[in-house]
Amino acid sequence: MVPLPTRRATIRLARAVAAALRPGDLLILSGDLGAGKTFFTRALCRALGVPSAEPITSPTFTLVHEHAGSLPVAHADLYRIGDEEELVQLGLRDRRGEGAVLVVEWGAPYAAALGGDALLITFEVAADGARRARIEAEGGRAAALLAAALGGLGTSA
Ligand SMILES: Nc1ncnc2c1ncn2[C@@H]1O[C@H](COP(=O)(O)OP(=O)(O)O)[C@@H](O)[C@H]1O
Ligand SMILES: [Mg+2]
Repeated sequence: MVPLPTRRATIRLARAVAAALRPGDLLILSGDLGAGKTFFTRALCRALGVPSAEPITSPTFTLVHEHAGSLPVAHADLYRIGDEEELVQLGLRDRRGEGAVLVVEWGAPYAAALGGDALLITFEVAADGARRARIEAEGGRAAALLAAALGGLGTSA
């Protein structure tokens, strides 16, 4: 569990994850509306060098936004996705194969369809407003990514 008492703490987490990313990595972001999924993605993209003039917003209607940093990032929001057929048509799994990092909001039901081996980050806001991230690795590469990211953060779990 990573406490996120300030936006700064979320930016720090995003920087630590960004520094550990490799082409084709899959990040699945969960949490209620307003929990910080897009905020985290924006900080991650900035850490990868996406210029601050380029807006990073929730791809709620367009479903996927592409950003070019030191790694290409495909940022998706699957809240409105109908079924796995529609997901295939978005070509996200192919983007991974091409070396893009996939950052997927509301993607938890589709981890396997996206190719698996996912780092799952769940943003939680407690009743008293306290924010934190629960981070789990589902697969070998994701476990290595998690260890490297937490190492960069100076946290052990
Ligand atoms: N510690 C924090 N980490 C991330 N966002 C925070 C934090 N504290 C407050 N916020 C605010 O919470 C909101 C999160 O919104 P957003 O990232 O769009 O959520 P989601 O994409 O999960 O719906 C932003 O307005 C952000 O400024
Ligand atoms: Mg969002």
